[in-house]
Amino acid sequence: MMISLDNQTDPELFLTSHNESVYRMTGRRPLALIHSFGCQQNVSDGERLMGRLAKVGYGFTKDPEEASLIIYNTCAVRENAEDRVYGNLGDLKALKERKPELVIGICGCMAQQKHVADKIKGSYRQVDLVFGTFAYNELYRLLYEVIANKKRVFEQSEKPTDIDEEFVQLRENKFQAFVPIMYGCNNFCTYCIVPYVRGRERSRVPGSVISEVRQLVSEGYKEITLLGQNVNSYSYGFPQLLRDINAIEGDFRIRFMSSHPKDASDELLDTILGCEKVCKSLHLPLQAGSDRILKAMNRSYDTEKYLKIVDYIRRRAPEFSLTTDIIVGFPGETYEEFCMTKDIIRQVKYDNIYSFVYSRRSGTPAAKLEDSISDKQKGLWLRELLLEQRNTSSEWLQRFVGKTARVLAEGEGRTGAGYLTGKNDEGIIVEFEGDISLKGQFVNVNITKAMNWALMGEIADK
Ligand code: SAH
Ligand code: SF4
Ligand code: F3S
Repeated sequence: MMISLDNQTDPELFLTSHNESVYRMTGRRPLALIHSFGCQQNVSDGERLMGRLAKVGYGFTKDPEEASLIIYNTCAVRENAEDRVYGNLGDLKALKERKPELVIGICGCMAQQKHVADKIKGSYRQVDLVFGTFAYNELYRLLYEVIANKKRVFEQSEKPTDIDEEFVQLRENKFQAFVPIMYGCNNFCTYCIVPYVRGRERSRVPGSVISEVRQLVSEGYKEITLLGQNVNSYSYGFPQLLRDINAIEGDFRIRFMSSHPKDASDELLDTILGCEKVCKSLHLPLQAGSDRILKAMNRSYDTEKYLKIVDYIRRRAPEFSLTTDIIVGFPGETYEEFCMTKDIIRQVKYDNIYSFVYSRRSGTPAAKLEDSISDKQKGLWLRELLLEQRNTSSEWLQRFVGKTARVLAEGEGRTGAGYLTGKNDEGIIVEFEGDISLKGQFVNVNITKAMNWALMGEIADK
């Protein structure tokens, strides 16, 4: 392809021709390594970045030695998530010294923060590019500045950008897909950095979400997970979106993440129960079992409201699966208040909990609160919580024994050679003997045993 001098300043054309000339000279496409940390939203953003990079001629690798572009798509939700990224960036220093033409970038939630950008500017000279969550649509321009103009680039502005509905998401998984339906968060829970690094809520239009799902189903995708920090505040109405997607013809299931208890309406619950493709599970982050702490967290519900939701579901669908997030040791939380969280865990019977020791995030309101309990002590509380959960859930899992589950086989199991792992409609791990050729298909499995982390079973219809 002939590129005129004028076109050299169009970032997309520049990158395309640059990558083509690498291909001509070396016989290989330049390779990019994109590593996403954090939540599914970030994984989905990473796939979007890969879609953009593929369009201008990049291939992909997981080996840093082979890469000519490395981008870490980062998470800022807890301190240890950030520490991991700094550690990994440190490891890349020697590689960059050996291969000065290697481009190293970080993006995502950490990179949106000014203090992170400043730290990297000063102390991580090996990094060429730091761009926040609002800059994905500008990836070509940013890379152009780095590659053509040999600049170090820092882009943290919070420009209100339109959602690019036409983006191509390059999915590695060929049967399970993440589909973002909204971005950002308006809730400002006092401990949480997400609203600061992701901005205000923006929803994709339903038509675009629905046609994307229809396309994925026609390509053979079997599980669609709709994503948003709080899907219940999807501005065009989340229950209606669920019903519309449920009406798409095909053999697939629908999941979604996360739903905030403050607006988990009866309409939503009835929709989940009434739509056959929607999985019978709900991730309903509790965070804490004491009303005083919930208030201090600005969660906008109390335990009574939360337990009402649970009760509504349990009365209609006794086997329904609930999972949750818990924060242990919010500033000022007493041991007695922590024990209230344990009480709720016993009462609700979750199939899984994701529990974290509170991590101070600078810039959030809770960061200013006095915190007299040591992290070591909080770690002990966390262990207590996990023990409580293990005792409750291993008994609760027994409800599936003797029944047949529809399992989407995901790959090799942990049990050993010849075993597959997958999840049932309730989202619980099921391991069973089976051939790897079943990967990506629904399999009926008779559940024979419940362990504390998974169900075991045998294929029902060979
Ligand atoms: N929007 C989602 C949560 C996204 S963050 C929701 O509200 O459901 C995922 C989880 O990380 C949160 O539910 C919370 O349990 C945890 N988390 C967030 N900030 C935290 C902090 N500062 N310290 C510890 N855990 C935190
Ligand atoms: Fe964070 Fe709360 Fe928003 Fe979830 S709802 S992302 S916990 S501020
Ligand atoms: Fe982390 Fe950002 Fe997700 S802070 S949890 S990657 S929204």
